[in-house]
Amino acid sequence: MIADLHVHTRFSDGSYTARELVVEAKRKNLSHVAVVDHDTTAGLPIIASLAQRAGLGMIPGVEISAFDTRTSRKIHLLGYRLPLPAPHVEALCAPIRERRNARTREQVQALLEAGYPITLEEVEEIAADSFSPEELDVWEGVLFKQHVMELLVKKGAASRMYGDLYRVLFKDDGICAGDIEYVDLFEALAAIRADGGVAVLAHPGQQESFDLIPELVEAGLAGIEVFHPDHSPEDTARARALAEDFDLIEVGGTDDHGTFGSPRRLGEITAPEAGLDRLLSFDDDEVEWLVKTVRSAGDLARRATTDGIDPKLKAGDIRDLVTAHDMAVEGYLRDAIGSRHPDHTFLTEEDETLPESTAGPAWIIDPIDGTTNFVSAGTYFAVSVARWDGGEPVVGVVYDVMADECYVGIPNRGAFCNGVPLLPLERPLPLEASVIEVSSSTMRRLKRDFGVETKQIRKSFRAQRALGCASLGVIRVIRGTLDIYLSATISAWDHAAANIVLREVGGAAVVEIGDEETGERSHGEASTSPPWFRRDRGLFIAARDRATLDALLAHLFRSGRPPVTFL
Ligand code: IPD
Ligand code: CA
Repeated sequence: MIADLHVHTRFSDGSYTARELVVEAKRKNLSHVAVVDHDTTAGLPIIASLAQRAGLGMIPGVEISAFDTRTSRKIHLLGYRLPLPAPHVEALCAPIRERRNARTREQVQALLEAGYPITLEEVEEIAADSFSPEELDVWEGVLFKQHVMELLVKKGAASRMYGDLYRVLFKDDGICAGDIEYVDLFEALAAIRADGGVAVLAHPGQQESFDLIPELVEAGLAGIEVFHPDHSPEDTARARALAEDFDLIEVGGTDDHGTFGSPRRLGEITAPEAGLDRLLSFDDDEVEWLVKTVRSAGDLARRATTDGIDPKLKAGDIRDLVTAHDMAVEGYLRDAIGSRHPDHTFLTEEDETLPESTAGPAWIIDPIDGTTNFVSAGTYFAVSVARWDGGEPVVGVVYDVMADECYVGIPNRGAFCNGVPLLPLERPLPLEASVIEVSSSTMRRLKRDFGVETKQIRKSFRAQRALGCASLGVIRVIRGTLDIYLSATISAWDHAAANIVLREVGGAAVVEIGDEETGERSHGEASTSPPWFRRDRGLFIAARDRATLDALLAHLFRSGRPPVTFL
């Protein structure tokens, strides 16, 4: 994982729009970026939703312009893992933005009076330049001195942003000099914590703030920015030593402002992996342990992709494969979970036995979902593990092994990818604008078992796709890159974990459990709990929201709904 945890955008004094940042981070192959715009969280929802579709982990953050009143120093405080919205941080920051805006307007007026060829409208244009309409909608129009300098460079009055003219105008007794009033450092820390965020001291080497650490730790500081472009090797070493002494999370990043800053390239300074892991941890030992276990199971499968894999046919079916690796991964997971939880029960794909009862804690495991992809392509397969207690879902984990993306769903706590919260899906689409995953064998079964005509599928959606891994199909719905996943050949272990994640982003799913009255198409022990804890294959449909799912059911099953249950 590669994470740049200090990035600014146009929502404060950076030059990236939300789109530009996401595209650039993907181009640089970053797994995570933390957006920490100065004193605002306005851009975070838009950036988060673009990042979610692009498969980028965006950690919502802020950099608060604070002040230590006792020593009269400007201190920047980073807040990571903010919720969206972050009410305490916003309440604290709104007045800073107002003061900054007012101050920049005064500066523009002073420059005008001194004969510089600029107008307020032009500065506003620079600040808003290349924002999309949806970005402009949420941007409060905060102007920074960087926008003024950018205009002066454009007009030829200055050769670069932080050159001689900048110093003449904005430093010492220059006509634009003088800071706005910042907020109290300890109030800033309290606001970040009140929102459930992680407070981190920004670039202590740049602001000579090392001495504040003990007191800040007392007040709840959790981390320190160790790696920063302004840090000398001595600063970095000092920050590391303090991190160790006070058990602080070590973070780092480029402080990239795009073209509105000295050239620092996104991703050139990154956070240490251990710091990122701590920053994104669940604060829940059981979930941490499970994620680690599923990742280790995935490591086994990943290593095997370079082996000559020798698949066997299940029941002589050339389309239903099993490999020694499916068995090994399943064995690993059963052993690991079984030794931690000796009295829990299991339903796993490669072990034919059905659990006697699933009334207590029960696990449902597909060691390799997408075995055909695993064998033929060495990618697009997942490890899928779900846990229920007394018929209620507790946690679902789907690990996309080759993408190294671990999806976790915890009922009422949310959905996460590599520790980054995923947003609810909020783009209702008509069926004809939807992309649906459905395979040719599912189309055949739909016709045979439910009388659904092929053209009801081919002609009714924008496009039809098939990836060949059910859990990752559902994950695509979760990311917002697919609208509907439909399979008629699916078993409980294929969808159990993914469905727990899906529910947490507001998605909806149905599963066919047979007609209880006639018993038709109900091949399993229908009385086990939950009822679809069975080994047989059937219908499963996941959609981005309930309305889409209802519309789809009405469209497909015109002469009556098959026996489906909403999950
Ligand atoms: C299979 C995949 C596939 C679906 C099959 C599943 P497996 O899982 O998820 O996409 O169409 O029905 O059996 O057998 O490779 O674990
Ligand atoms: Ca499997």
